Amino acid sequence: MKALILSGGEGTRLRPITHTSAKQLVPVANKPILFYAIEAIKEAGIDNVGIIVGETENEIKSAIGDGSQWGIKATYIRQEAPLGLAHAVKIAEPFIKKESFVMFLGDNLIKDGIKSLVDEFIERKPNAQILLARVKDPQRFGVAELSGDKIVRLIEKPKDPPSDLALVGVYMFDKNIFEAVNNIKPSWRNELEITDAIQYMVDKGYDVQPHIINGWWKDTGKLEDMLEANRIILDTLTGRCDGFVDSDSHIIGKVVIEKGAEVINSIIRGPAIIGENTKIINSFIGPFTSVYFDVVIKNSEIEHSIILEKSSILDIHVRIEDSLIGKNVEVSKSPIKPKAYRFMLGDNSKVGVL
Ligand code: DAU
Repeated sequence: MKALILSGGEGTRLRPITHTSAKQLVPVANKPILFYAIEAIKEAGIDNVGIIVGETENEIKSAIGDGSQWGIKATYIRQEAPLGLAHAVKIAEPFIKKESFVMFLGDNLIKDGIKSLVDEFIERKPNAQILLARVKDPQRFGVAELSGDKIVRLIEKPKDPPSDLALVGVYMFDKNIFEAVNNIKPSWRNELEITDAIQYMVDKGYDVQPHIINGWWKDTGKLEDMLEANRIILDTLTGRCDGFVDSDSHIIGKVVIEKGAEVINSIIRGPAIIGENTKIINSFIGPFTSVYFDVVIKNSEIEHSIILEKSSILDIHVRIEDSLIGKNVEVSKSPIKPKAYRFMLGDNSKVGVL
């Protein structure tokens, strides 16, 4: 069995962060989302992995390399434009050949992994196995209508969803998926939809097995989802300190302090993670916060947020919450008169001021 990870596409909902970098590499609990997918695939016993890449190819390649870090063999497949999930499958045929494979969307996170699901697929040998999860906002997803345990209909992002069962971004297929992706037409948004390809298989009488998952799953496409993913994963960490904490600081609850990090005269209330070589000085870091590497936080308070590498937050006395702060960002108190807010914000940025 092989695996296909989809790591192309455009991260429109996470702009401006994704103007400059791949959405699949945004870290959750200081680890790129994509790495969780690779770990889940490896844990399921699969080590031959195709990775669909687009514009952010170089960034993805430099993060994953040949895959040996995880004991997998990574093969990159370039998709010239994000023409849809089924298009990605189509161009992966020379890599997959006639084998069965698990397709994993690179921005999806499944807390309990996929081992038991892959085992079930290998044992039962349906032509396809799809995962479904109950959601509050089905119109954001592909949605399934079931009759008993049979799939009646699958619709991509319906205005009027027939159920609350969303398609999770992990699918298992045998070679017959290629007949489907080669026979469907682009949708209204001009993409070859995997949902339509699976519907094609259902219509042609192929055995497509739905599996409702009860464990936690997230499509991390939006800010709130990223923060939720960060919360859930941080909660699973075991506290440790590989950096330096001075005697004036207090570390409360589950906190990971990575190599080279320094905590000076500060309070860190977990669950939280402080990345390599990051400095926290005279500050408060509250629960559910991930601070990536080479960050400086001084005389400030922050909680329930994700801060990316090489950023600095200086002298901000009003607590920062619910925020995703990109790379190399500087948030500081301005000494310049007249007293005023001064911004340099990218397109589609969001700022909430007091
Ligand atoms: O997350 C689950 C949902 O994923 C399903 O419920 C939907 O049925 C499915 O269509 C998909 O919807 P999204 O709109 O969330 O897909 P998105 O465009 O975000 O793409 C998912 C991943 O695949 C993302 O990592 C980017 C990558 N991708 C996407 C496209 C369209 C590619 O590599 N190539 C592409 O052409």
